[in-house]
Amino acid sequence: MRMNILVTGGAGFIGSHLCDYLISKGEYVSVIDDLSTGFFENIVHLQDNSRFQYINDTILNKDRMNSLVQQCDAIVHLAAAVGVKYVVENPLASIETNICGTEIVLNLANKHKKKILIASTSEVYGKHMHAPLKEDDNLIYGPPTTMRWSYAASKLIDEFTALAYHRTKKLKVAVFRCFNTIGPRQTGIYGMVVPRFIQQALRDEPISVFGDGQQTRTFTYVGDVVESICRLMECEKAIGEVINIGGTEEISISELAKRIKSLVGSNSEIIYIPYEQVYGKNFEDMMRRVPSSEKLNHLIDFVPQTPFDTILEKTAEYFRSII
Ligand SMILES: NC(=O)c1ccc[n+]([C@@H]2O[C@H](COP(=O)([O-])OP(=O)(O)OC[C@H]3O[C@@H](n4cnc5c(N)ncnc54)[C@H](O)[C@@H]3O)[C@@H](O)[C@H]2O)c1
Repeated sequence: MRMNILVTGGAGFIGSHLCDYLISKGEYVSVIDDLSTGFFENIVHLQDNSRFQYINDTILNKDRMNSLVQQCDAIVHLAAAVGVKYVVENPLASIETNICGTEIVLNLANKHKKKILIASTSEVYGKHMHAPLKEDDNLIYGPPTTMRWSYAASKLIDEFTALAYHRTKKLKVAVFRCFNTIGPRQTGIYGMVVPRFIQQALRDEPISVFGDGQQTRTFTYVGDVVESICRLMECEKAIGEVINIGGTEEISISELAKRIKSLVGSNSEIIYIPYEQVYGKNFEDMMRRVPSSEKLNHLIDFVPQTPFDTILEKTAEYFRSII
């Protein structure tokens, strides 16, 4: 039987790819998005599809959300204030969306007894140096005066709230923690590193590394993330669990800049900008972030596997087509 999936934040980067995937599988999809960081262009090709509907509104509108949740069979909750730069620049609105918005979605999912998947982030791990990060690791944060941690803390509250609904109300909910996800349609304007570097490289502008570039990350192809989300939706054992979704190839940001420069054949200079200049005083970065994919693999028999160079090529191809 066809499902009707409600995707909050469906006009965003991950959300729009999820919509494409669900529509390609014959499902019905409803999107609610206020376009605060998403773009209608990401879903414009779906608007004439009779199995797709888009509502331009905020998840904070309880009446609207009530009718959408009532109509759907399951929810993937992606709407959030995303990106370190965005959150640092919009601290209050970010907390409101990430905490109050998620509480509204969970409350309604419980009221109408709908299964729900909640997007969290690798940011919740905080300042760890060890690898790989496992879902039951301790979490290490800086002080609340450093606004960066509000993103992690707000997503952590979402995780606690989701698990509390599961334990006390038996709500069918699973939380997935995305690590840096990349691919076509991701925008660089809110501080995401790969789209920013690729656009700078394609324009032969300086590629700006924040900090000394020794911080490392792993990057996951958006198609692998979407596949993981859809498999988790089908997986009964995922209910009540927190699960990492991420790639395992670790690369320093300095090396990433060099790799992108060579991939696109750019003449860009690579420059290093102190964090303070970009994010203001007291900014702290996470020096390392590598996920354990053991739990994901165990639950859905799948781990993100697209090779890093292939992901970079697909992303560069996308930016070449729009620049
Ligand atoms: N992309 C990544 O690397 C990454 C990493 C970790 C976690 N995540 C999580 O995945 C989810 C999707 O992220 P993304 O990368 O696609 O970002 P995105 O900014 O492209 O998507 C978020 C979407 O939510 C929408 N939105 C924000 N506030 C809203 C509100 N109040 N009401 C309705 N819509 C609202 C935005 O307009 C946007 O379209 C987020 O929850 C994010 O925290 C993403």
